[in-house]
Order: sequence, then C-alpha cells, then structure tokens
Amino acid sequence: MATIPTLRLDRTAIDTAASLLREGALVAFPTETVYGLGADATNGTAVAGIFAAKNRPSFNPLIVHVPDVTAAEGLAELTPDARRLADAFWPGPMSLVLPLRASAGLSDLVTAGLPTVAIRVPAQPVAQQLLRKANRPIAAPSANPSGKISPTTADHVLTGLDGRIAAVLDDGQCSVGLESTIFGGDPLQLMRPGGLPVEQAEALLERTITTAMMGDPHAPAAPGQLLSHYAPDAAIRLDVVTATRAPHLGFGAGPCTMSLSETGDLSEAAANLFAMLRRMDHAASTEGSSYFTVAPIPETGLGRAIRDRLARAAAPRD
Ligand code: TXA
Ligand code: MG
Repeated sequence: MATIPTLRLDRTAIDTAASLLREGALVAFPTETVYGLGADATNGTAVAGIFAAKNRPSFNPLIVHVPDVTAAEGLAELTPDARRLADAFWPGPMSLVLPLRASAGLSDLVTAGLPTVAIRVPAQPVAQQLLRKANRPIAAPSANPSGKISPTTADHVLTGLDGRIAAVLDDGQCSVGLESTIFGGDPLQLMRPGGLPVEQAEALLERTITTAMMGDPHAPAAPGQLLSHYAPDAAIRLDVVTATRAPHLGFGAGPCTMSLSETGDLSEAAANLFAMLRRMDHAASTEGSSYFTVAPIPETGLGRAIRDRLARAAAPRD
C-alpha cells in the first residue's frame, strides 16, 4: 500500500495545521513536554486515527488540550483543589483528570468511556496558537508508536510515524522533555510523575499528595500506566555508578558515553532524556552491546519523573 509522506510544516504554518485538524486529519505539534499527536477530540473518526497511527490499545484514554482554564471549564468540572492547581500551573506541564461534563461533546474514544477526562493547557507558544486557531479541543498522546520512546523533536516524530499522519508542525526541541504530571481524583492524587515537580503542587496545596495505585477502589484508574513503555531496542541497567564496557549514560561528573547533565542539573537531564535514550540505543547497537547502563538519578523534583521513565524503559517487555 502506498503511503503519503508526512508534511513537515514550518512553525509559521499554524493556519495550515489548524485547518488540517479541523478537517479531521492527524497533526503532530510541539508542546513544552513532548510532541503530541493531535486530532479533533469531538471527531470520533479523527480520534480513532490516533489509535491506528500509534498502534495503541484502545482502552487507553487520551489527554485533551485546550488553550486556557475557561476552555477547560467547558469540558469538565474543576474541584476546588484542581482549580488552585490550574490557576497556579496552567499553562504548563500539568494535566488534570476531572469529572467530564455531559455537554462536553467529546468523542467517547477520548475518555475510553470513563466519566472523567484528562485536560492539559500547554504553554508552548506554537501549541497555544494552534489550539486557538483550531478552536476545538485537541486530543493528543505523545507522537510516537505505542510503547516506544516519546518524541522531543519533529525528526523523532517522523522516525516513528512518517506516512501515518498528515503533518508535523516543527518548532525545534521541547524545553521540558518529559510528559506532563497528571493529578486526578478527589482528593487529588498523583497519577503520573512528569514535567511539573510534585513538590511544587504539594507546596501550593500545603499537603502531601499520595500516588494513585492501580486497582485502588478509591483512586482513579490510570489505564495508560503500562509498565513497559519508552522501550529502546537495547536492554537497560539502571543505577550503575561506574561505567563498564557497555555504553554508559552519565549524570554529573565521571566517564560516560554521553551525559544527561554534566553539572547534575535535573531540568537539563529531563530535556535530554528521550533524545539521549535514542542515541544510547544507537550506540549499543553500533558497539554490538545488548544493553547500556545509566547512572543513578536522584529521586527529588524532576528526578522522580526521570526515574519513572527510566524504570519503564528498562522494564521486561512482555
Ligand atoms: O505531556 C503530555 O501529557 C503529552 C503531551 C502531548 O501533552 N501527552 C501525553 O498523553 O502524554 P498520553 O495520551 O500519552 O498520556 C495520557 C495518560 C495515560 O497514562 C492515560 O491513561 C491517562 O493519561 N489518562 C487519560 N485520561 C484519563 C482518565 N480519564 N482517567 C485516568 N487516566 C487518564
Ligand atoms: Mg506516551
């Protein structure tokens, strides 16, 4: 079957990207976290296309992107704590799972039939303009084949999805580099660590935020939290202090193939993580190594999300 090559749109071609979305086409676009694979969230056929392009299990609900809190309120009810987080951290690298309004008009595929919806207001300027011009809620998971490493450049998007989506809007590298932090439930719990450090939300709410456990009847289910995810081809050994003969992904001082951050800066490490996992996979393959090693990353701030992604990348694949 002949495929149509994916259009690479310049960052100024926002009108074209918005028109494609309104016509029901799939358009990948930059956010400050990772590139998203966007579709009109009110168009069931368009949303179904996301699952097909990614080969994604269809029980997995998607995050809906809107330009501001007002648009979010049209789709979902904000609990008092959710509103405090929204006012403080939107636009930004945070998503909230909230009770869905009956009048929202979203495709059931977006929520996987749940009574809740995950909403995000991204800050990235091109994403902001695109959402305003499209003037529809845009469903967007990360723009990579299901189970693979999330994309932080337009090239990464094309490597995984060329010919499977209409276009990618290119605005260079994502500044945060990790998917959004997801909070949900009442009281709010952490459903996925990500680009907003949990400590910042805890400081605002003046309480500890617990982590939602799968299967907990009092916690919202996060069906997307499948353990093996972000999987490179090579196996990965974590928390390796000293480089061995296998390629080594460093953090801080010390010999390594490449370093997430030579100065031990967690923001820099987060921004580099997914691109470097790709390069380490390539290094392992060219050096004939079945695995690569990764230095220990501290568990604080963005380190929590980095460790979460590394654990998933290193998890058994079956
Ligand atoms: O940074 C991000 O969040 C990126 C960019 C593109 O915005 N998007 C992203 O979306 O990571 P996705 O679809 O890959 O991750 C969505 C996560 C999944 O783990 C899914 O299970 C969870 O959100 N989720 C979505 N709706 C939910 C709901 N109603 N209840 C529980 N979990 C939900
Ligand atoms: Mg993803």
